[in-house]
Amino acid sequence: MRGLYEDRPARAKGLSALPSNSKRVAIIGIMAAFTVLLSISLCLSRVSGSPASSLSQGSCNTVDEGYQCFSGVSHLWGQYSPYFSVDDQSASLSETIPDQCQITFAQVLSRHGARYPTEKKSKKYAKLIKDIQRNATSFPGKFAFLKSYNYSLGADDLTTFGENQLVDSGVKFYQRYESLAGHIVPFVRASGSDRVIASGEKFIEGFQKAKLGDGHNQPAPIVNVVISEDEGFNNTLDHSLCTSFENSEVEDKAEDKFMDVFTPSLIKRLEENLPGVTFSKKEAIYLMDMCSYDTVALTSDGHRISPFCSLFSHDEWVQYDYLQSLKKYYGYGAGNPLGPAQGIGFANELIARLSQSPVRDHTSTNRTLDSNPATFPLNATLYADFTHDNTMLSVFFALGLYNSTEPLSQTTAQTTEETGGYSAAWAVPFGARAYFEMMQCSGEKEPLVRVLVNDRVIPLQGCDADKHGRCKRDDFIKGLSFVRSGGNWGECFA
Ligand SMILES: *[C@@H]1O[C@H](CO)[C@@H](O)[C@H](O)[C@H]1NC(C)=O
Ligand SMILES: *[C@@H]1O[C@H](CO)[C@@H](O)[C@H](O)[C@H]1NC(C)=O
Ligand SMILES: *[C@@H]1O[C@H](CO)[C@@H](O)[C@H](O)[C@H]1NC(C)=O
Ligand SMILES: *[C@@H]1O[C@H](CO)[C@@H](O)[C@H](O)[C@H]1NC(C)=O
Ligand SMILES: *[C@@H]1O[C@H](CO)[C@@H](O)[C@H](O)[C@H]1NC(C)=O
Ligand SMILES: *[C@@H]1O[C@H](CO)[C@@H](O)[C@H](O)[C@H]1NC(C)=O
Repeated sequence: MRGLYEDRPARAKGLSALPSNSKRVAIIGIMAAFTVLLSISLCLSRVSGSPASSLSQGSCNTVDEGYQCFSGVSHLWGQYSPYFSVDDQSASLSETIPDQCQITFAQVLSRHGARYPTEKKSKKYAKLIKDIQRNATSFPGKFAFLKSYNYSLGADDLTTFGENQLVDSGVKFYQRYESLAGHIVPFVRASGSDRVIASGEKFIEGFQKAKLGDGHNQPAPIVNVVISEDEGFNNTLDHSLCTSFENSEVEDKAEDKFMDVFTPSLIKRLEENLPGVTFSKKEAIYLMDMCSYDTVALTSDGHRISPFCSLFSHDEWVQYDYLQSLKKYYGYGAGNPLGPAQGIGFANELIARLSQSPVRDHTSTNRTLDSNPATFPLNATLYADFTHDNTMLSVFFALGLYNSTEPLSQTTAQTTEETGGYSAAWAVPFGARAYFEMMQCSGEKEPLVRVLVNDRVIPLQGCDADKHGRCKRDDFIKGLSFVRSGGNWGECFA
């Protein structure tokens, strides 16, 4: 019995890594049976609405696995899903650091944690709820709560849940890269919006907590550089400079097209349930957005799911999730002719850091910042940068991480298997993190580069990737010709 709104304690990913001798298999069998019993009992306690204490032993958010509660829906909220460790069943690449290898460099590129809706959206959600309350003549069944729902979410800033996500992320980064992190203070940058800077600070809090707990006594990292998001500033952690891109309508057109497929039956069903209310396509989607926003605002660890969520079916969540993936792909990814170009600046900074050589870029980098060792050192080995979902996606596409993904269908929802592992929820959820790591392995002269997006190893493209998805550093950099040449940035001002 795996209900849609059932809770689930964190998985034990490590089990699959155990050698399969018969004794172990027997133990796994017993553990699996126990897990099933446990989830049944959790499920029952959920359904009967027992207090949260029954769940507090298995927190919804863990350092290793991220958010695992209500995963039948919460992993289908596109970029509004809380980070979860992506367990890609179709690819069997392990995220562990291979034996015989030592990490020599790690850069995390992180999205901010879960937040309240943006101010603009907040107004729209509040108005929609007022309109529903004014227009509906009845509120049957699951819709009953809407009658007295009081929209009181904040705007723009991190929720407590979102702050906690970033503390966990800092702990995880420390633990994964402990061999370096134990004696090195990372260099940290953040794009200039409050929630992004606050995310950097929370990450640092977690990182330092783990480090002190480990008996290491070094000063805490600080946010070394904040790059302004104000107009006219060059910022590799937030797009805005590229005129033709900012004016592009590619994303809106793709969104409209898929909404035409997805929303008619949704609207029909909602209007039947809420007589007197008429939904536009966007308003129907807004009501779905409320599920995630309300959940990440309700409690600090997400152990209660918002009543908005149960207004929708599993299939509707699948469609919603795909709509978000589609918007991001045609907004910031390869579906937009200038999408990947927005990630070139950061990608060139990454090349500079991997190769300890000056930044060569004529796109979104700020030469004043990047030529100064105080604001852009080249000799560090641990870096943490904080940004937004959109720019992260552009960076992924500039690096060609999803080059094997075919253009996304604008009329049919595709699975992550069909999209080669691309989706908004898998790539840029709240608290998303990509690790760019370099390792020195015995028997190898050159260091190897590997990239993980939310713990999923992405086999590198444009170079000769080995069975762990890694390339030799120089080979990787050579393959980034799109980035090194400045790509099609010139078209920004055409
Ligand atoms: C709605 O919520 C706000 C903020 O929490 C509160 O001040 C207000 O009294 C609430 N209104 C109602 C009608 O419950
Ligand atoms: C570049 O950074 C410097 C130092 O922070 C700042 O004074 C300058 O305004 C920035 N210029 C642009 C174009 O971003
Ligand atoms: C509610 O009714 C008003 C007035 O008829 C209308 O303008 C508005 O679009 C309706 N909104 C919804 C969500 O039903
Ligand atoms: C900022 O970016 C623009 C556009 O790529 C570039 O022409 C300018 O030189 C950059 N400014 C700095 C300070 O790097
Ligand atoms: C990097 O170089 C700067 C001087 O440019 C120096 O102050 C700093 O200690 C060096 N850091 C490391 C990790 O070697
Ligand atoms: C990814 O594909 C783009 C578009 O075809 C190409 O320009 C780029 O070089 C590719 N990147 C890599 C790393 O293979």
